[in-house]
Amino acid sequence: MFPRDFAWGAGTAAYQIEGGWQADGKGASIWDTFCHERGRVCGEQSGDVACNSYQLWEKDLQCIRQLGLTHYRLSLSWARLLPHGTTPHVNQKGVQYYNQVIDDLLACGVTPMVTLYHFDLPQALQDQGGWKCPGMADIFDCYAKFCFQTFGDRVKLWITINEPYVCAKLGHEDGIHAPGLKEEAGIAAYLVGHNMLRAHAMAWHTYNSLYRAKQGGALSLAINSDWLEPLDACCPEDVAATERYLAFTLGWFAWPVFVTGDYPETMRSAIDARSKKLGYEGTSRLPSFSKDEPAILGTADFFALNYYTSRKVKPGEGGGGEMSLSMKSDRDVTEVLDPSWPIPGVSWLAVVPHGLRKLLKYIKDTFNDPAVYITENGFSQVGPLQIEDVQRSEFYRDTLMEVARAIQEDGVKVRGYFAWSLLDNFEWADGFSVRFGLYHVDFADAKLSRTAYRSGREYAQMISKSKSKSNGESS
Ligand code: BGC
Repeated sequence: MFPRDFAWGAGTAAYQIEGGWQADGKGASIWDTFCHERGRVCGEQSGDVACNSYQLWEKDLQCIRQLGLTHYRLSLSWARLLPHGTTPHVNQKGVQYYNQVIDDLLACGVTPMVTLYHFDLPQALQDQGGWKCPGMADIFDCYAKFCFQTFGDRVKLWITINEPYVCAKLGHEDGIHAPGLKEEAGIAAYLVGHNMLRAHAMAWHTYNSLYRAKQGGALSLAINSDWLEPLDACCPEDVAATERYLAFTLGWFAWPVFVTGDYPETMRSAIDARSKKLGYEGTSRLPSFSKDEPAILGTADFFALNYYTSRKVKPGEGGGGEMSLSMKSDRDVTEVLDPSWPIPGVSWLAVVPHGLRKLLKYIKDTFNDPAVYITENGFSQVGPLQIEDVQRSEFYRDTLMEVARAIQEDGVKVRGYFAWSLLDNFEWADGFSVRFGLYHVDFADAKLSRTAYRSGREYAQMISKSKSKSNGESS
């Protein structure tokens, strides 16, 4: 049912699995700082040790091989490579670690997809103002260049930034992710999103002009989006609210990169109208792209989509407060859950596999029919844990069926699927209470042993069937 060269993957992120937070000269990241502050993370947990993949990489590799993955998505810890965030000081031990990981993957016939930034800014850069500062884009570009130069002979699939939406909103508006800021609601998140888009675009142009010809890789940014539809498709207000919500989430990052080089008009006009209403003086809270900087439009070689859930939408400020300065108030929507959608794990994740197919079709139609990698998708268990996790096995089967339909019936160019996640790991503010792994990790055992869940074993079977079918067809 899947194309012959379909990428079968699973993903992880450095802070969620590596541990070794101070090992061998690694610098601190904003997640190290955040977790070490009381009251930030469920049960005061942290990624200090996590799955200890910094030392136990070989165990991860075994899991990857058992699953029969063709691709593995990992992220680099910026502060492990550049402890102060900038290039004069390179931590060679960090370089060695990632060289080992990349070389081992390639030796096993597994293609690495490498994310440069998955939420973990070096603390030294946060101390200088972090993503709110325009200068961060140039600093990121230097880091990206360092990574292309160091690993790009072997890495051919790059993600610059993972989920700028989450970094901007959860980190700088809601304050529930590092760096935990919420004092400038309705302002800081737009600034952060803007600088992340500029950083991404600069890195793409650097790759394009200096490395592409020689290294021949492809690069994008990973955009998260729920599938959104009007609560009542016949109600114009619900339809408009859905468009607005899409503009403030998916459109915020995809529109500039894939369609116009600028933010969706719906987003800008909603923000500006609200600023006026509140008597907010000055320039728009949503920054503008400068013509003197590298263009944003066209800076993705494929669409990298992280999809987890769906929502129905109607108007209403969704808890933001009528007169408050906040993103929630700007976008003015209320999310509604369809009662038929199960929520078996973490509370925000209603399981809706068919939403993925609809979203893929929407992406094809809206963003000029790009090649798509589903760079994250999965659902979690929250205790009591079941190694025989039948429901999650069914979820993967149903989801992959929807992906196959998107390819065959809707003609979406889906190039690959990365289950989230290879391992149970540190699930950000939820700590270890929420488990997304295809492999169970026993965090109570000093060896941190990994055991395949039933969903992992069945995913492996699906991959193996698909591979043997395409081999059969080609012979
Ligand atoms: C992130 C992952 C996270 C997952 C599940 C995504 O937002 O990229 O790091 O573990 O969702 O919450």
